[in-house]
Amino acid sequence: MANKTIWKRKDLLGIEELTKEEIHLILNQTFSFKEILERPIKKVPTLRGKTIALIFFEASTRTRFSFELAAKRLSADTVSFAAASSSTVKGETLKDTAKNIEAMKVDLVILRHSMPGSSYMLSRYLEAGVVNAGDGSHEHPTQALLDVFSIYEKKKKIEGLKISIIGDVAHSRVARSNIFALKKLGAEVTICGPKTLIPVDIEKLGVNVTYNLDEAIKDADAINILRIQKERQKETYFPSIREYIKLYGITEERLKKAKKDVLIMHPGPINRGIELFQEVADGANSIILEQVTNGVAVRMAVLYLLCSGETIEEKEK
Ligand code: CP
Repeated sequence: MANKTIWKRKDLLGIEELTKEEIHLILNQTFSFKEILERPIKKVPTLRGKTIALIFFEASTRTRFSFELAAKRLSADTVSFAAASSSTVKGETLKDTAKNIEAMKVDLVILRHSMPGSSYMLSRYLEAGVVNAGDGSHEHPTQALLDVFSIYEKKKKIEGLKISIIGDVAHSRVARSNIFALKKLGAEVTICGPKTLIPVDIEKLGVNVTYNLDEAIKDADAINILRIQKERQKETYFPSIREYIKLYGITEERLKKAKKDVLIMHPGPINRGIELFQEVADGANSIILEQVTNGVAVRMAVLYLLCSGETIEEKEK
């Protein structure tokens, strides 16, 4: 994954706008930061003096914790914001909230918000960098980067791999960001789920579409299983959870139809017993917790590139 690309962006808003070279650059940096996380003392002074604000308007365990840990591992200071106890409940706008936080000399803002495009909007208003930590059903770039890194770590390549994304694609920012990343890196992507949960015209993104789970999993090198996002579903998209489980739930029985070395992935949180069953989620093919571990390293790489604008190798020259 060697390259000489220089990072020039102030923000990380989505995978769609990144070049293949920029994705490689982040993944390359991630290897360096993963090595730091394996040391007995997992902290380096790289971003000492920088301040990173975590502004989360939606629930999160993995992304929020992971960004905070990544910042702390790099010695940056963090401030965080819980929407329910902030002045947004008094009617303050997202723009005003962010401008006020920036006025306290914050270098980078990590934003999770239910509104697609919210991080793009903030990036126009703020001189500080902005990282999209999930904007509605639009994009979740660091999740895609950690997914791609996790696949690369196991398979030693992305180009030519067959990756299937199963489930509620219509409401999934993870699916969109994964499709952009995997296609840019040369994977063959198949989307599978009930017709009502597959966006019309998704083929235009260069993916295959099937509504048959066995077909989607039979040749896959990795299966990325998506959560049924009840909180984003404003109507009923399939007759019953029972029927969804029967047609699309990944059980041990179903997994027998996949390749022996298929990677089982899930961005979390998992609806156990619905899209993914216990014996598969915790089984030998699962890399779900490794995805979480890699999330910290990927986010260290992203914070580092955005705050310093240089690669580790350049710094060490
Ligand atoms: N994968 C993911 O975004 O998880 P959280 O919602 O817990 O951050």
